[in-house]
Amino acid sequence: MINHNPVVVIDFGAQYAQLITRRVREAGIYSMLLPYTSPLDEILALRPQAIILTGGPSNVTKTNAPKIPDGLLDCDLPILAICYGFQAIADNFAAKIGLAKTGEYGLVEMTLNKDGLSNPLFNNLPVKSQVWMSHEVEVKQIPLGFVNLASTPHTQFAAFGNFVKNIYGVQWHPEVIHTEFGQKIMENFLYKIAKITPNWTTDYIIEEQISAIKKQVGHNKVICGFSGGVDSAVAAALVNKAIGQNLSCVFINHGLLRLDEAEQVVADFKQFTGANLIVIDDSKVFLKKLQGVTDPETKRKIIGEQFIRSFENFVANLAQPYKFLVQGTLYPDVVESGGGSGTDNIKSHHNVAGLPDDMQFALVEPLKDLFKDEVRLIGKALGLPDRIVNRQPFPGPGLAVRIIGEVTSDNLNILRTADAIVRQELKSFAKDIWQCPVILLTQSKTVGVKGDQRHYGWPVVIRPVSSQDAMTADWFALPEQVLTRISNRITNEVNQISRVVLDITQKPPGTIEWE
Ligand code: XMP
Repeated sequence: MINHNPVVVIDFGAQYAQLITRRVREAGIYSMLLPYTSPLDEILALRPQAIILTGGPSNVTKTNAPKIPDGLLDCDLPILAICYGFQAIADNFAAKIGLAKTGEYGLVEMTLNKDGLSNPLFNNLPVKSQVWMSHEVEVKQIPLGFVNLASTPHTQFAAFGNFVKNIYGVQWHPEVIHTEFGQKIMENFLYKIAKITPNWTTDYIIEEQISAIKKQVGHNKVICGFSGGVDSAVAAALVNKAIGQNLSCVFINHGLLRLDEAEQVVADFKQFTGANLIVIDDSKVFLKKLQGVTDPETKRKIIGEQFIRSFENFVANLAQPYKFLVQGTLYPDVVESGGGSGTDNIKSHHNVAGLPDDMQFALVEPLKDLFKDEVRLIGKALGLPDRIVNRQPFPGPGLAVRIIGEVTSDNLNILRTADAIVRQELKSFAKDIWQCPVILLTQSKTVGVKGDQRHYGWPVVIRPVSSQDAMTADWFALPEQVLTRISNRITNEVNQISRVVLDITQKPPGTIEWE
């Protein structure tokens, strides 16, 4: 856990809750997400510098609607309340709230009044700007002690402030990019109202993590599960910097990587991190355990467990005892596995929910509070080359969750060949494409014609996405000729595949991986 006074974002179940946390971090300030059910002493134990209340899907006028944690508004902490949070504040101060005559969804023109224009929250904003709204309930009366600051064509009270209590609220969403001066408003709140000095820098994180790692592991021997991805490479480089020779990295080859990937990552890792690396090929063991398994969550749990078992087997044969295991778990992995803010378990990331209960290691997870782009910056600062730092994210359970159906060595080879073609053809899009999973659908044969003959083959799906942090993603529109080339090459070069399908789903609602 990072020991740094955060801005605590209280989550009312908002779609954009993590985005708010990110925006605060982009402003150079550490921030974390807690569910609205958190008791006050848990929130205050973090010694927060300010509080942000998120939006949420509930209707504040309903009896069982989420409430602001008891006592939070009396703690003299600067507060910014967004959308549902804005209404919850009004409700707390007994202002009238009800269904709006006209709900507002999407872009709306917001006008600052005289008080708004002179308020630090809107410092350097023009009178009129575009904001992004999503509400059907509205505040119908300014709460006692508050001043109205802005309006829109359909919302008379669109922002307010209580200058004595340092509580501010906006009906719109400053965290989404569509709000023209959204980041400016967030920064005005953080710098000018909460008066926080930004110090959440890469150097700071590295320094803090190194001392936290030293404190946690002391002179003990530490083992690192290196999966081949950016996260575990950066985690290993950080721990290596903290404890040097006491770290040994183990690369368990689970046989679920892409074509030639294992050899490449091992060579890069040895060259650039300076850490010891032992390679164990357990691909046969993994494949055997996955035999007959088609359920994705079961696949993840099997792989998560076998990783640990492979480590334990390795460690059991060593002369010295190993007590600690380093993992490159990120903040979104924790949140999406249901651990961050009481949110739903969307996908059990293998390294969070897939761990066996009787595991013998204590975990060292230096990236657990960080987003991917923060991890990349740390990797760069630690001297890792672009080839490692900018690698596309690849799931720990590898191709096992890209084969819909049973994982067999034949299926793996088919998918590897198709995937290698896609990777070759997309080389020049490395900057635009966050990742491009290629998925083999082994449960639905489709009819094709090859060499004038009826041919049954499987479909593969290609899913190029752009994203900032994998929490949300857009499908990436590849040029037609690139798509055509990929399709032609796959259907010609991989005999078992008869159809190439393009996935054009955003996240949400679709996740990036298919399983
Ligand atoms: P989804 O599919 O949830 O993916 O939109 C978000 C990001 O996480 C990766 N992913 C995983 N990574 N273990 C991992 O280490 C997993 O079980 C796992 N599942 C998804 C995915 O590739 C994307 O970058």
